[in-house]
Amino acid sequence: MVTPRCVRKCSPLFRRRAPLPGSLGMLRAARGGVRLLLPARGGGAGAEGRGGLAPAPAPGLASPPPRRLLQQAAPPAATPPAVGRWLLACSGAVAGAVVLGGVTRLTESGLSMVDWHLVKEMKPPRTQQEWEAEFQKYQQFPEFKILNHDMTLTEFKFIWYMEYSHRMWGRVVGLAYILPAAYFWQKGWLSRPMKGCVLALCGLVCFQGLLGWYMVKSGLEEKPDSYDIPRVSQYRLAAHLGSALVLYSASLWTGLSLLLPRHKLPETHQLLRLRRYAHGTAALIFLTALSGAFVAGLDAGLVYNSFPKMGDHWIPDDLLAFSPVLRNIFENPTTVQFDHRILGIASVTAVTALYLFSRKIPLPRRTRMAVTSLLAVACMQVGLGISTLLLYVPTPLAATHQSGSLALLSMALWLMSELRRVPK
Ligand code: HEM
Repeated sequence: MVTPRCVRKCSPLFRRRAPLPGSLGMLRAARGGVRLLLPARGGGAGAEGRGGLAPAPAPGLASPPPRRLLQQAAPPAATPPAVGRWLLACSGAVAGAVVLGGVTRLTESGLSMVDWHLVKEMKPPRTQQEWEAEFQKYQQFPEFKILNHDMTLTEFKFIWYMEYSHRMWGRVVGLAYILPAAYFWQKGWLSRPMKGCVLALCGLVCFQGLLGWYMVKSGLEEKPDSYDIPRVSQYRLAAHLGSALVLYSASLWTGLSLLLPRHKLPETHQLLRLRRYAHGTAALIFLTALSGAFVAGLDAGLVYNSFPKMGDHWIPDDLLAFSPVLRNIFENPTTVQFDHRILGIASVTAVTALYLFSRKIPLPRRTRMAVTSLLAVACMQVGLGISTLLLYVPTPLAATHQSGSLALLSMALWLMSELRRVPK
């Protein structure tokens, strides 16, 4: 068994201590990610345990597809698995921030801190005097004047701490990206393309913080002609959620790409179609999640709380009430909810079609698990969306629906990662 020379040179595992071919050390190195650089053998007992190589019998086939068709191929050589694990942890931290942000919005806490300082605001008010000064600042802004004019200091402390924890978690996420990135860079563990990728992720996490403040500012502005409940701009909310979803997806995708070995699948016409469907479905799920931000931003979950019809109609009368027509898509709560329903149902239909199509193709067990999980999470997500609507958007359900969109996106990315092409 010969290990390619380039691998021995590039991989830090080999730089530290190159195990002897066939030795236990070789097996351990293999478990750390280098195993996959060895010529694939079609899955022994160990391989089955790790990557689920054992091919499940495909429906319609009398016997499982030949093992040779389902081999795993070499993963990227130069980047140590620690980098992949770090990126997965970062995507988890971003998911936490999204959930916390959703709860902050749903408890109407997002406009309680009326200014922004990167370092100064990290220290919360301590004394009664400091709290009263903070409360007085809040009283100068529309949310207090129009909505919360009878709020007590104790109630204010609750919404303030909600927003504070979201902002502090944002800082933790920023550090979770930047500090390990600097460490890995300095250690020389990042290849050239990985350096670009890590820089982009660190840039995006900083941008995310700035976008958060830009969003909050839109809810603090006085609108003299408006007696509407003060809320942030739905455009900025969608931008803030959208960029969090991009950061989450990019981190998860890169982490999975570094850690999950590719399957050496035969490049049949059907497989190419399945791969294309998987990409299209992931894009549709992303769009549906983004449209959810407009529903949330306009409180459009509080109009037409019936399903499947909207009131007595399939197509409500006020669908195009705003002029010009294009404005309805982003500003009319009825249209925004209608679009989100259509996109949600289209997503679950696309996932079901993908699942049924995938049953015709012999796939490794792990890939099959990804397709089945995607279908299960899609059904759950639509069920959560409908319940949120019928029950007039209760906070725990709406927060779970929002987290469900991350789970669904993760399943779609996992499937895409399973179907990655092996580079020639
Ligand atoms: C694949 C399917 C779906 C996805 C990925 C999805 C995703 C989302 C997302 C990301 C939000 C924003 C949450 C927030 O920022 O707080 C949202 C909100 C919402 N969605 Fe969905 N959704 C789906 C299907 C549905 C369906 C079928 C319905 C109902 C018919 C629905 C009803 C709602 C409602 C009422 C809200 C507003 C909740 C709030 O105000 O916080 N969703 N959705």
